[in-house]
Amino acid sequence: ATAAIGVTGLGVMGRNLARNFARNGYTVAVHNRSASRTRALIEVYGDEGAFVPAETAEEFVAALERPRRLMIMVQAGAATDAVIDEFAPLLEPGDMIIDGGNAHYSDTRRREAALRERGLHFVGTGVSGGEEGALEGPSIMVGGSAEAYDVLGPMFEKISAKVDGEPCAAHIGSDGAGHFVKMVHNGIEYADMQLIAEAYDLLRQVAGYTPAEIANVFRGWNRGRLGSYLVEITAEVLAHTDAETGAPFVDIVADAAGQKGTGRWTVQTALDLASPVTAIAQATFARAASGQSELRAAYAGLPGGTRPPLSRTEAERFTSQVEHALYASKVIAYDQGLKMIQDAAAEYGWKIDLGTVARIWRGGCIIRASFLDRIRAAYAADRELVSLLGEMEFAMEITDAQVPWRETVASAARRGIPVPAFSAALAHYDTLRADRLPAALLQGQRDYFGAHTYLRTDRPGAFHTHWAAPARPETPA
Ligand code: 6PG
Repeated sequence: ATAAIGVTGLGVMGRNLARNFARNGYTVAVHNRSASRTRALIEVYGDEGAFVPAETAEEFVAALERPRRLMIMVQAGAATDAVIDEFAPLLEPGDMIIDGGNAHYSDTRRREAALRERGLHFVGTGVSGGEEGALEGPSIMVGGSAEAYDVLGPMFEKISAKVDGEPCAAHIGSDGAGHFVKMVHNGIEYADMQLIAEAYDLLRQVAGYTPAEIANVFRGWNRGRLGSYLVEITAEVLAHTDAETGAPFVDIVADAAGQKGTGRWTVQTALDLASPVTAIAQATFARAASGQSELRAAYAGLPGGTRPPLSRTEAERFTSQVEHALYASKVIAYDQGLKMIQDAAAEYGWKIDLGTVARIWRGGCIIRASFLDRIRAAYAADRELVSLLGEMEFAMEITDAQVPWRETVASAARRGIPVPAFSAALAHYDTLRADRLPAALLQGQRDYFGAHTYLRTDRPGAFHTHWAAPARPETPA
């Protein structure tokens, strides 16, 4: 046995991760259900490093040095369970199965517990960065035991992206913590993409800019505090013209967004944790709404707002407003996701350091953004930080964004342009900073029809009002 690691499942992510390990000097055993992919990898990329092709599961396992490190890169769900069931019987105590797919964290918790019983380590690992990241250096969010990380950590750190010389790979916490953080990463990804898309829509419809002009606006923003992979690629997409028609690419694409499901999982999980990730939820629902073609046809043609187009000077001022709105909303979206991770950590007993999460998101992953370094620093300065808005610089930026942020949402409403993620982020901000919330009235309603009782602001205890006979005093419930 000579291989430091084995990768089974040689789709594009698995193949590129295997190549990344090999390029970094590790001997990599490679295996795929249909051997043609294994042969193709060796044929095309065999000279990039030391590969050990294996046709059967037994050959594959025999190629691995002990403790065996076997990484599975197959579809989340049933396919992952099938591969685990195939390989686990061939392994020995102390061996490690790493799941690098986008698994649901609760599946990972179940698998980890089952394999731990058999003396095996199951390491649910979030890998972000798409095909290119997998090959050139992804961001790697590792769950499972600290013991397994002692062995695997150096390998993951080696193949990961680096920012300021620091690897974008870390142990996040036990069992499903790595996949949980990857799921929330994707939720934030949905929110960030939707916010950028709303900014585009406003610049197009309100400012009257062309896609090429908006590409330039985004290029400018990308050099500032909004600097990020998603803003950068958005500029590229907007600048692109369709080869066939010569039209802006964005105009020839059907406006119904798909999803593979990690955004949906984030929102479903957030409901269970009572974690208000409203910008992420709106972004996820915005994709769903875009695909509701019958419903859209039923609403089509109904009145919206109207306003005269902006002058060139007004358009420039509006653009800078939208920059503030985008930045402020983005801070809220990341803050919502990070808080959700804290809520889950409390629920599942994970010791997650959000500074580490922000640090390994600075490079390799889809949501990499320059402000993540400041988020990292904020949590490094105060590990107990409840919200990014508890940090002075972020609080100041949000304060500065007040007028333009509100103006942006207001102009969208006046013109009938949907900005669900911008609006949700602003409402979240206003909800949390409010002195009093109308939740008090909700408690009254609940007590009225269901005798659900309420707490008082002036006295301890639970109370119930006899609504039918209001003359009678409130009684302790
Ligand atoms: C990443 C990405 C990736 C994910 C999709 C999301 O971090 O590299 O998040 O893991 O699969 O790109 O895809 P959908 O938009 O289809 O849900």
